[in-house]
Amino acid sequence: MRILGIDTSCDDTACAVVEDGERILSNVVSSQDWLHERFGGVVPEIACRAHMETILPVMQQAADDAGVDLRSIDAVAVTTTPGLIGALLIGVTAAKAAGWALEVPLIAVDHLQAHIYAAWLADDKPALPAVSLVASGGHTSLYLTQGPLRHELLGSTTDDAAGEAFDKVANILKLGYPGGPAIERVAAEGNPRAVEFPRTWLAREGFDFSFSGIKTAVLYHCLGQNASKEDIARADYSPEFVADVAASFQQAVVDVLVGKTCAAAERTGAAGVIIGGGVAANGPLRRRICEDASRMGFKVTPAPLELCRDNAAIVAGLAFHHHAAGEIAPLSVAASP
Ligand code: KG4
Ligand code: ZN
Repeated sequence: MRILGIDTSCDDTACAVVEDGERILSNVVSSQDWLHERFGGVVPEIACRAHMETILPVMQQAADDAGVDLRSIDAVAVTTTPGLIGALLIGVTAAKAAGWALEVPLIAVDHLQAHIYAAWLADDKPALPAVSLVASGGHTSLYLTQGPLRHELLGSTTDDAAGEAFDKVANILKLGYPGGPAIERVAAEGNPRAVEFPRTWLAREGFDFSFSGIKTAVLYHCLGQNASKEDIARADYSPEFVADVAASFQQAVVDVLVGKTCAAAERTGAAGVIIGGGVAANGPLRRRICEDASRMGFKVTPAPLELCRDNAAIVAGLAFHHHAAGEIAPLSVAASP
């Protein structure tokens, strides 16, 4: 069964064709990073306009790359939640039109479940039950996962998402957008023990996260209290200073993400650990979770590197399981943020 997947939940326009939930025939992502870079973050109106302009060419490209005619598609799947509402609507509208025109079923997919499903597209399947960490620009959540469609929320961020913290700290350090890859790159040259940034554990026995404190701590460390936007714009740091702050910040975030994920796996008696979402592309995070969780006896299945960031192969893959479970969406299905 060939499913066309569509994801426009944030700032990437993505379409993919996946066969039987596991063979990726194509995976096209049109990145808007260059449009949002000078604003230091995603501007929803700009994202929406770019989605409108690119969704049809990206859909056609996904069919061409897969070597299939769109008329041979068996179902159309789309992310309906969560995300930027205007951005989601464009993908959902395109999916409805395609499903109706091609006379095939429409399947609604949850973006966070799709990030977890990336682990099923790895060479080695995840061990279940698993504790799944989804860390992206908009979310940081832990789930107890029993299957591709069965996730129980254990905890989530009470303020900023982990990726958002990477983006904001990159902005303070003047490293550009998106911040995660830029921080990882310069952190490789720095000392992760140079600055002792706070690790916010909240209730030790709970699984919620908080990343706004560390962002403020970085700002105070770099520019003191009461720093304005102009101070950030005028700042002139040495490359060594930036590398040390980036490395120390990254280390603190990784400590918390890995610490909470391992604690959750232990408490729930899970057999495996899954990580997905844009932040799961982070090398030090992948290494630490593999080391620590494996040492504790959990089988770790990180999302394949190329499927961490937003894409539609994870949407089309997960949709296969919805279809098998008879979960077809009506043409009236709504997008929700
Ligand atoms: O999953 P994603 O592509 O989009 C959302 O659903 O939000 O995640 C994007 C986020 C951004 O905040 C970006 O800075 C972060 O993932 N990110 C990283 C890395 N690559 C992307 N964070 C840390 N290290 C990375 N290598
Ligand atoms: Zn995402």
